[in-house]
Amino acid sequence: MKRLNVLVAYSSKEGLRKEFDELHCVREDDGEPPPDFFAEGDSSETIDAVMEALRSAGHDVKGAEGNSYFLESLEKTRPDIVFNIAEGLTGDLREAYVPMLCERRGIPFTGSSPLTLGICLNKARTKEILSYYGISVSPFKTFHDNSEIDLSGLRYPLMIKPVSEGSSKGVFEDSFVESEDEAVERIKSKIEKYRQPVIAEEFLPGDEFTAAVLGNGKNTEVLPIVSIDFDKLPSCSKRIYSYEAKWIWDKPERPIEIFKCPAKISENLRKSIEDIARKAFAVLDIRDWCRVDIRLDSAGTPNVIEINPLPGILPKPEDNSCFPKAARAAGYSYAEMINMALQNSCARHGIR
Ligand SMILES: Nc1ncnc2c1ncn2[C@@H]1O[C@H](COP(=O)(O)OP(=O)(O)OP(=O)(O)O)[C@@H](O)[C@H]1O
Ligand SMILES: [Mg+2]
Repeated sequence: MKRLNVLVAYSSKEGLRKEFDELHCVREDDGEPPPDFFAEGDSSETIDAVMEALRSAGHDVKGAEGNSYFLESLEKTRPDIVFNIAEGLTGDLREAYVPMLCERRGIPFTGSSPLTLGICLNKARTKEILSYYGISVSPFKTFHDNSEIDLSGLRYPLMIKPVSEGSSKGVFEDSFVESEDEAVERIKSKIEKYRQPVIAEEFLPGDEFTAAVLGNGKNTEVLPIVSIDFDKLPSCSKRIYSYEAKWIWDKPERPIEIFKCPAKISENLRKSIEDIARKAFAVLDIRDWCRVDIRLDSAGTPNVIEINPLPGILPKPEDNSCFPKAARAAGYSYAEMINMALQNSCARHGIR
């Protein structure tokens, strides 16, 4: 591949904090954000690892925050392609912001379109589309405000989550509720805390998996399936991959062996997980890469929980990040994984 000028668009944790503080001044809004508010931000380690990976393939690499100054960075660097990992700070379209500016300027970018990123950030809209195409998802309702919380028709236990978050923002152990009273209280408190609609969905009691997908069209590869071993969590755990499980109980200095990859599952189950991941990838028009979270229902059928078109890519094995873990199991180094995402995008854009 020819040497490219690549601009990595990211949302560093510090950058998000700075942007939040600026916004805060404008809004005259008091109070600190919840402790998980910046969970989706990239660490400098991740940003450096992505840039290094691209450099190792011979590209000229620069980086820029995917914030409101991104257009200036785009004008200044005039890249051949933007490598997009920017999650953004606020609003339902925060992940779509960088791709929208790139589209406006006619600059190719890696990963999914603004429309797909906007849809996948909203767990309810994603599930509506998946179910339209016959892909199994657990029944759910969305609540926009604290009035008239009608949970009829849903079977307990339920999971209560902010509708547009990732990295387990708002998905704490307390998201698992077993009664109507508990559910109503949790819905109200999460609407207030996360300032967005909240989704209440039936709890899928079976095993959980995540499937990392790389490619496009006929060249789509599902990497070895990762399974989540909830037995490794403290016994008080509700057997969910919550904020506590991801960021409090599991620490780089004391990692929990929560993932198995490749998952020890039957050939039939592997095929049906790969099949649902590929279908979800196709119907949501995902591009280049993504991670599909899947859990079995009481009948053992795989259901999609949610789709991450900007997958977490923490570089160090002890950080327990699923996509890089699946790539390692497939025999790809971190650098190869990053450059495969770039190549998938270049192939789509006709960049040789
Ligand atoms: N309907 C459900 N049934 C069972 N478990 C669920 C359900 N919804 C969420 N969970 C549990 O909560 C975890 C986090 O939920 P979800 O994947 O929706 O959040 P997220 O913050 O977007 O995750 P990510 O870190 O992958 O971006 C899941 O991995 C799963 O363990
Ligand atoms: Mg998830």
